Amino acid sequence: MPAGFQQLGGERITGTLALSVFTAVLGSFQFGYNIGVINAPQKIIEQDYNSTWTERYSEPIPPQTLTSLWSLSVAIFSIGGMVSSFSVGIISEFFGRRKAMLINNVLAFIGGGLMGMSKISRSFEMMILGRFTIGTYCGLASGLVPMYVGEIAPTSLRGALGTLHQLAIVTGILIAQILGLESLLGNEQLWPVLLGVTVLPTVLQMTLLPFCPESPRFLYIIRCQEHHAKSALRRLTGRLEVSDDLAEMKEEKRRMEMERKVSIPELFRSPLYRQPIIISIMLQLSQQLSGVNAIFYYSTDIFKKAGVESPVYATIGAGVVNCAFTIVSVFLVERMGRRTLHMLGLAGMCICAIIMTIALTLLETVPSMSYISMMAIFGFVAFFEVGPGPIPWFFVAELFSQGPRPAAMAVAGCSNWTANFIIGMGFPYVAVSAEETLFYSGFQFSDISNVS
Ligand SMILES: *[C@@H]1O[C@H](CO)[C@@H](O)[C@H](O)[C@H]1NC(C)=O
Repeated sequence: MPAGFQQLGGERITGTLALSVFTAVLGSFQFGYNIGVINAPQKIIEQDYNSTWTERYSEPIPPQTLTSLWSLSVAIFSIGGMVSSFSVGIISEFFGRRKAMLINNVLAFIGGGLMGMSKISRSFEMMILGRFTIGTYCGLASGLVPMYVGEIAPTSLRGALGTLHQLAIVTGILIAQILGLESLLGNEQLWPVLLGVTVLPTVLQMTLLPFCPESPRFLYIIRCQEHHAKSALRRLTGRLEVSDDLAEMKEEKRRMEMERKVSIPELFRSPLYRQPIIISIMLQLSQQLSGVNAIFYYSTDIFKKAGVESPVYATIGAGVVNCAFTIVSVFLVERMGRRTLHMLGLAGMCICAIIMTIALTLLETVPSMSYISMMAIFGFVAFFEVGPGPIPWFFVAELFSQGPRPAAMAVAGCSNWTANFIIGMGFPYVAVSAEETLFYSGFQFSDISNVS
């Protein structure tokens, strides 16, 4: 851990805190891995779908059907996430944060197994079902991890440690992109391994979780186990004297008892909550509808069409930029504030998108524009990670007090995954229809790849 980090806010980071955060964000890592993993091997898996189809129906797959099957394989992941993100509140209260993460791993095993076996079983249905299952795992993880990390982190470090969730996601994306190289696992024989190795971090998380303390906030505020909460606090802070932290939780519990639980419709009806819930939804939508996942799902294809010579390496480049700027945001988020960073990020993304569009339009006459468009995509990703990437994950929890928080998190999670689904499912169709429009106006998108 970098030296400056240890002193952030004057709180010490103990071994137990570091271990617990690391173990939890293994779930975020898997989330990222499964976002990034279907990017590079798209063509190879499509070929397998095609040959399976040919075997079954003795005719090659119609191109339209193949596009649909592939978009479905990509996007059903978000349907799984959408469904399960709704149950985060219930599951985390019933089992506790730590046990919920432990149980969630079962879904990762099933999902990874289904995807890993789909080739041997000659079944794209298994692949699609596996993507759905791993999506439900990720939906739960995307709620449980920020919740657990937010609850075990000292107040002064909550933002910085909260950003680690996003850092683990982007690291997962990067590792998936690297393993997806044709010379590693992204080839005809090994792609099932590429999709199946997602069970490895699962095993690691299951091994480490028993050594992590349960969230003291959960133990004290929800279970009313003061004694257990105290010992968890002692382990996390490394101090024997934890009465300050306990007093803070007492205050939170007192406030919570004064507040009733708020239902989802009430969030929208009550003028007290209406503004914060609209802000929360807008934040999630700005994260997903920015289209950044189109880059993580389909960038290899995008770079190829933009005339970049080695699209797979450009994809990995985007992954590296992504990680680097998430680290930048870990350090900025407590200093510059959430609002400034979020708006800065969105403004930067907007400018990069405009540059990208201009560069792609000029590509036919100026071949070197393929580099400009590549840089614009890198910039787009960098600005995303400065604000819109990490902030929405923990901002909702910060915006609401205990009473309305579970309902607000469910609404926010669901809007996030819905937007994620729309982008994942819609992008290929938008790309195809944009290509046709350009074609009819006398400009052929597919020519682009021949320019360089
Ligand atoms: C499916 O495979 C056949 C035979 O290899 C090939 O001719 C056809 O173009 C492929 N279809 C698609 C949509 O890729």
